Amino acid sequence: MQKPFEVRHLKKTYGKTEALKGITLSMNEGEVLGLLGPNGAGKTTLISILTTVEKPTSGEALIFGKNVLENSQELKAMIGIVPQELLNHGFFSILEVLEFHSGYYGLGSNREHILFLLDRLGLLPHKDKKVRELSGGMKRRFLIAKALVHKPKLLLLDEPTAGVDIELRTTLWKFVEELNQSGMSILLTTHYLEEAENLCHRVAIIHQGETKKIGPTRELVHDLTQRCVDISFAQVPSQMTHKYLDQQKQNTLTFKIPSKMQLGELMTELKFDMSQVTDIKIREGRLEDAFLNLLNQRS
Ligand SMILES: Nc1ncnc2c1ncn2[C@@H]1O[C@H](COP(=O)(O)OP(=O)(O)O)[C@@H](O)[C@H]1O
Ligand SMILES: [Mg+2]
Repeated sequence: MQKPFEVRHLKKTYGKTEALKGITLSMNEGEVLGLLGPNGAGKTTLISILTTVEKPTSGEALIFGKNVLENSQELKAMIGIVPQELLNHGFFSILEVLEFHSGYYGLGSNREHILFLLDRLGLLPHKDKKVRELSGGMKRRFLIAKALVHKPKLLLLDEPTAGVDIELRTTLWKFVEELNQSGMSILLTTHYLEEAENLCHRVAIIHQGETKKIGPTRELVHDLTQRCVDISFAQVPSQMTHKYLDQQKQNTLTFKIPSKMQLGELMTELKFDMSQVTDIKIREGRLEDAFLNLLNQRS
């Protein structure tokens, strides 16, 4: 299977800033891959290189097996990009921009697909509005429609829900899932971890221009977080000490155990009088904890 994108030892420097320090990373066809990292990690730089907006300082970037530097026109037709910055298309209406954009890709009559996208993104009632008249959320949806007019095989979403309200965020998540189910590969950069947790099959965590970790979302959470076990008692055992005991609140003791540890193992160690136990709750770790743990470990 072709890799939608692959970068090898990719470096990018802007003056003295090393935005990417030799990243090697690839995507599997049909997946939603999350690119997570704090501000300044190099996410947008990576996307800019994939879309030939920026040139690598060294290393290689391939789209569906082809070097971005040698095939840029052909490759542009395979990629849809939703940029982080909201662009201003001033005086044109949504429909005009989308038709113009289709023409750019040599798609003559694309009206049906455009109307489908506008409908799915809730923009149909606004299709004759000038782009400058749109609200922030509408602009974001318009940019998504624009990225999809030519039916790309790879969609690059750079922080698509930054500054977007909850309702629109949920709509966008559903749409991204639908696109992915139709076979589109999707790269999503975000520092909104719940988004990555919900949407991404795998995530790559990047920090200061380097890949810190990449793997299936669940595995990453599992490897890098702890589980919380809340055990409530009719009568809390007195003088309780244990290396995994985190806190006591009223009748509940909270233990933080490694995600790999079985609950049975903990219970055997603790030797509680089970007739006193009224409730046990387990809370799995979150991607957010994994992310913070990882960044704190290495810095
Ligand atoms: N055009 C540019 N000129 C100079 N420095 C840049 C430019 N674009 C990005 N940088 C720097 O490169 C680093 C990575 O930025 P960026 O890729 O935008 O990070 P992210 O998208 O993860 O927030 C930052 O230190 C940023 O200031
Ligand atoms: Mg960015």
